[in-house]
Amino acid sequence: MTPDPMQQNWPTLRRVVLHAATVAAPALTVLLVLLVVEAIAPLPAAVALAAVLAATAVVVWPYVLGVDSLRTAIDRLDREGDAPSPDTGPTESLRRIWDSVRRMHQEKEAGRRAVEERLRAEEAILAALPDPLLLLDAGRRVVRANAAAADLFPNAPVGGDLAVSIRHPAVLGAADAVLAGEATRSVEFVQAAPVVREFVARIMRLDHPSGTVDGVSALLSLHDVTAIKRAERMRADFVANASHELRTPLSTLVGFVETLQGPARDDEEARDRFLAIMHEQGHRMSRLVEDLLSLSRIEQDEHTPPSGQVDLAALARATVETMELKARSRGSSIDLIAPDGLPRVQADPDQVAQVLQNLIDNAIKYGRRGTPVAVALAHSRALAGRDAVALSVADQGEGIPREHLARLTERFYRVDPARSRAMGGTGLGLAIVKHIVARHRGRLEIESEVGRGSVFTVHLPVAGGETALSRNSNAAVI
Ligand SMILES: Nc1ncnc2c1ncn2[C@@H]1O[C@H](COP(=O)(O)OP(=O)(O)OP(=O)(O)O)[C@@H](O)[C@H]1O
Ligand SMILES: [Mg+2]
Repeated sequence: MTPDPMQQNWPTLRRVVLHAATVAAPALTVLLVLLVVEAIAPLPAAVALAAVLAATAVVVWPYVLGVDSLRTAIDRLDREGDAPSPDTGPTESLRRIWDSVRRMHQEKEAGRRAVEERLRAEEAILAALPDPLLLLDAGRRVVRANAAAADLFPNAPVGGDLAVSIRHPAVLGAADAVLAGEATRSVEFVQAAPVVREFVARIMRLDHPSGTVDGVSALLSLHDVTAIKRAERMRADFVANASHELRTPLSTLVGFVETLQGPARDDEEARDRFLAIMHEQGHRMSRLVEDLLSLSRIEQDEHTPPSGQVDLAALARATVETMELKARSRGSSIDLIAPDGLPRVQADPDQVAQVLQNLIDNAIKYGRRGTPVAVALAHSRALAGRDAVALSVADQGEGIPREHLARLTERFYRVDPARSRAMGGTGLGLAIVKHIVARHRGRLEIESEVGRGSVFTVHLPVAGGETALSRNSNAAVI
C-alpha cells in the first residue's frame, strides 16, 4: 500500500507552519495587541492573522525544503562517502554551505586514507622484521606482536601479561624497570623449549609527551644469539683443546732436555733413548700444527665448491698404494672394489686424497690386527636431486658405541683419548674429513656395530650437475 502523500508531507508542512509562525511572530503579536485593546474587530483580526501566516509560509517554504534536502545530502555524504548535490532552491547560502561541507568531508577522507596507508606500511614493516618484537602497555601487557614473535610464542595472546610469553624473571624485571621510568635495558636469557635458544632481550621506553604512543609504553625486541654464543664457546673450547694437546709433548720435550742437561748428561744409552722420544714428540707437535693449519685452510674456502673433475677410482688406487705399507705393519691389507664406468666427481683431488688417507688410517688403526680394510666405490643417490659416487671405507674393528657417533667429527673428540694419543693421533682427522665433505657439498655417513666394525661413507656429487632424473627416464616417470 502506497502511503498517503498528505501523510508523507505532513512533517514538512508542520515545519513550514512552525517556521512561518516564528518568522511572522512580530506581525502576529501586533495583531493580537490590537485585538486585545479592541482597536480591531475579531473577524478582521482573524482574517489578517491567517493572511500573514499564509504569506509567510509561502515565503518560508522553499527555504525549509532546501534545508531538508541539504540535511539529507549531508547525512548521505557522511554515510556513503558521496552524495548528489541537494536541491537548495533559490538560496545561494545553502548551496555555499553544501560546497563547504563537501570540501571538508573530502579533506577529512584524504587525511584518513593517508593515516590508514601509513598504518598499513608500519604494520607491514613490523611484520617483516625478522626479530621478534612485542609492544607493551604501561601495565606490562602485550599490545601487539609481530609475526616473528607470534611464531616464537604461539600460545601467548595479545592482551595478556608479558609473563605469559616470557617467564624469565630477568626479562620481567627489566620490563618493569623500563615501565617505571628507565630508558632502556638489555638482558640475556635462555629459552629452553621447544629447542634451546639464547636471546638478548632489549626493552626500550617509548617517550611521548602524552606518556604513551597509541597505548604502547615500551618496545621489547629479541635477538637470537644462539649461533654467536655457540661459536664463542667453540672457539674457547678449541683454544683450550689445542693448548692442551700441545702442552703434553712440550712438557715431555722440556723434561727430557733438562734430564739430558743434568743427571743423564753422560749416559749415552739414555741419551739415544730420550732423543728418540723427543723426536717422536716433536713430530707429534708438527703434525698437530699441520692438521690445525689444514683445517683452517679448508674452513676458509668452504663456501667455494671445488671446480675440478676427479676420477675417484684412479685416485683411490693411488692412495691405497701409499697406505699399504702402514696396513702391512699391522698385519692387514687394503682391498679396493671399484666398478668400471663410474662418472667423475666434482672435487679437489688433494682434498679427496686427504679424506681417503684419514679414513683408511683410522680403519688400519682401529681395525683388529690382521683383518683387512675394504675401500669400495659405487653409484649413489644419497644426495637429493644429484647423482653421486659413494666412497666407503670399512674395517673389522671393535666398532664405535652409538652415543659417540654424533660427536665423532668434532675437533679433538676421541672415543678413547689415551689410545688415540698413544697411536700418535691428533683427534683432528675426522673434523678435517667433515669440512672437506661440506666444501664438496657431499655427505658423510658413519655406521658402526660394536664388536664388528665400522663403515665410513662419503658421497660426492658427480661432475657437471647431472641428475639421476635427467639420465634415467624411468625415474623421471616416477
Ligand atoms: N674406524 C674407526 N673405528 C673405531 N673408532 C674410530 C674409527 N675412526 C675413528 N674412530 C674414533 O674417532 C676418534 C676421532 O677420529 P679422528 O680421525 O678424528 O682422530 P684420531 O684418529 O684419533 O687422530 P688423527 O686422525 O688426527 O690421527 C678416534 O679417536 C677414534 O676414537
Ligand atoms: Mg684419524
